[in-house]
Amino acid sequence: MDNKNYIIIIATVFLSMSIFSCKHHGEEYHSITDKIEAESKNYHGTSISSEGHLGDEKMIEITVGEHTFLIPERKSQIKSFACTECHSKPLNELQSSEGIKKAHWDIALNHADQNTMNCTTCHNEKKMNDLTSLTGHTIDFNKSYQLCAQCHTKQFDDWQGGAHGKRIGGWAPPRASMTCVNCHNPHKPHFESKWPARFNTQKVKERE
Ligand code: HEC
Ligand code: HEC
Ligand code: HEC
Ligand code: HEC
Repeated sequence: MDNKNYIIIIATVFLSMSIFSCKHHGEEYHSITDKIEAESKNYHGTSISSEGHLGDEKMIEITVGEHTFLIPERKSQIKSFACTECHSKPLNELQSSEGIKKAHWDIALNHADQNTMNCTTCHNEKKMNDLTSLTGHTIDFNKSYQLCAQCHTKQFDDWQGGAHGKRIGGWAPPRASMTCVNCHNPHKPHFESKWPARFNTQKVKERE
């Protein structure tokens, strides 16, 4: 065979290869969405999970609006739970007649003002093991976000969607988020202003 034939044969092989491969892809996927659809047919979601990163903390699953996610369980974390261990009789029988406080010395309410809020806004002495809504409905201690949601609708809406608060575990499912009382003390929810962790030593010198 002479060189000319060689070139023709090689050219023909390349040409048919390229036509063949082009045709092959063209037939398989008409568009990029077809390609994504076809190639994800055997894909059953991610196999990555955040479950291993949640640690030993006990979680409960909740559904608020269209969101279902995990939040930390509370009752086992509340020191004086179950309340009915002591609150088995009416408050006036528990309270001393001299006005000396006999319990909960560490709780001083600093939330809204006294006309708006007192202990019975959230606790019902007839049903101490649960929280109570403004209209007298029972709210489980594990779902105290329902209590806060009555007045703080904006933060509650943001929290549902994940814009207020903090996600725990990792980015992979299942979603787990801190609940309001993990960050805010319901009795004094305000965060105190803090000094920066690192002092500006120059300013300190100047002040002296
Ligand atoms: C170790 C016993 C004990 C436990 C447990 C306990 N309480 Fe009390 N609680 C008391 C006593 C005693 C009083 C009366 C305090 C006083 O002298 O004013 C009281 C008073 C209260 C009052 C009224 C306070 C006021 O100033 O009017 C509320 C509200 C209350 N408790 C909520 C709770 C809740 C909620 C729990 C559970 C999370 C709980 N308590 C668990 C002993 C207890
Ligand atoms: C804004 C609603 C609200 C008000 C008002 C309120 N509480 Fe509470 N209280 C809560 C919530 C929510 C919890 C549970 C917090 C948690 O999950 O740690 C709680 C927990 C407690 C506990 C258990 C704390 C522990 O760690 O053992 C006691 C006791 C208590 N409240 C007493 C009182 C008393 C007394 C008052 C009034 C001086 C009061 N609360 C006012 C919402 C409220
Ligand atoms: C009955 C209505 C009511 C309920 C229930 C309620 N709050 Fe409040 N909260 C208020 C009011 C009123 C203020 C004061 C608003 C202001 O000063 O602008 C306030 C203030 C706050 C603040 C801001 C404090 C500051 O000054 O920075 C936080 C945080 C907060 N609440 C968290 C909570 C959480 C968490 C819960 C649920 C455990 C809750 N609240 C339940 C009415 C409520
Ligand atoms: C991961 C912690 C975290 C969680 C969970 C969380 N918050 Fe907050 N919240 C914050 C921080 C931080 C601020 C800002 C405080 C500041 O600016 O001083 C804040 C601010 C607020 C304020 C005051 C807003 C203002 O503009 O002054 C309210 C009210 C509030 N949160 C309510 C809630 C409620 C209700 C929930 C639950 C549905 C919740 N938070 C859950 C950390 C949290």
